[in-house]
Amino acid sequence: MTKRTVFSGIQPTGSLHIGNYLGALRNWVDLQNDYDTIYCVVDMHATTVPYDPQELHQSRVLTAKLLMAVGVDPSRSLLYFQSQVPQHAELSWILGSMTPLGALNRMTQYKEKAERAGQMLGLYSYPVLMAADIMVHKAHAVPVGDDQTQHLELTRDLAERFNNRFGYTFPVPDQITPKRGARIMSLQDPTAKMSKSDDDPRGAVLLLDSADTIVKKFKSAVTDSEREVRYDREKKAGISNLLDIPSIHTSKPVADLVDEYVDAGYGDFKVAVAEAVVEGLAPIRNEYNALDDAEVSRIMARGALDARTRAEQEMADVRTKVGLGA
Ligand code: TYM
Repeated sequence: MTKRTVFSGIQPTGSLHIGNYLGALRNWVDLQNDYDTIYCVVDMHATTVPYDPQELHQSRVLTAKLLMAVGVDPSRSLLYFQSQVPQHAELSWILGSMTPLGALNRMTQYKEKAERAGQMLGLYSYPVLMAADIMVHKAHAVPVGDDQTQHLELTRDLAERFNNRFGYTFPVPDQITPKRGARIMSLQDPTAKMSKSDDDPRGAVLLLDSADTIVKKFKSAVTDSEREVRYDREKKAGISNLLDIPSIHTSKPVADLVDEYVDAGYGDFKVAVAEAVVEGLAPIRNEYNALDDAEVSRIMARGALDARTRAEQEMADVRTKVGLGA
């Protein structure tokens, strides 16, 4: 039986954080066992907000290295830079003609980002390119954190619209989110998700942060004025976030952690969480340091070649169906 296809992408905007890891990357790695996995550093998405070209160029390789360091294995997964496979942009154009503006107007990520970056067409049509990323490989499932749910809904809608109009072509893809970790919150504002663009750098723990920095960030984590370590996402968002995070390393149930730390006091609890994270991230940092930039770039170039071949096969079919065939 042929394997089902999984696709996902990540933006190369600076270093990745533990939210990316818990919400998405751990699933990316696990899914390699049972699926045909395709993972993409979505560098074209990163140009939809103001950016520095040199920084972007460097961040691409850094991101690819980090993906390999967490366990994305290029001998089992197809891994490449989005901009090196032009079929993504081509399909995005075709899907754009089937995307109602109303759907784009509802996108909360657009509204948030446009406040900082301005109301630009690229940012506005970002979700269409994301749908094309997924559909150009006819993916069946997409591992992401829960901030991507709206984008996935649009993707499913576009797949259905296309199939209805031109005949069955695209699977309607499922979203895969972890039970815990689908939305890791900022350490500085537990009501907002942890984000690379957090104004306060202490809000996000980066995969390559030193042990010292990690401990400092957790010690400064915003919690509440009680003393009791207890899981309650609504009333105790900060502490609940800190209870979710140690799963980075242990698969201990939250209830066990609560038992362990219920009377410990927040100070000791925060240090214990920090230590679990430091330990959990150590192998990733070691793997990262062992990787060679030039070799990583070669792997990415090979990935792009294979991805172009695959995407071109799908696009030949799409072009024929929409009347743009040879
Ligand atoms: P990006 O680059 O912002 O994030 C990469 C992945 O990390 C997840 N994530 C989180 N999960 C839990 N808690 C958090 N605080 C957190 N922050 C980020 C994201 O949900 C994502 O899975 N639009 C996408 C990139 C993209 C894509 C695609 C994804 C472009 N094309 C096609 C899947 C399929 C994004 O900006 O992710």
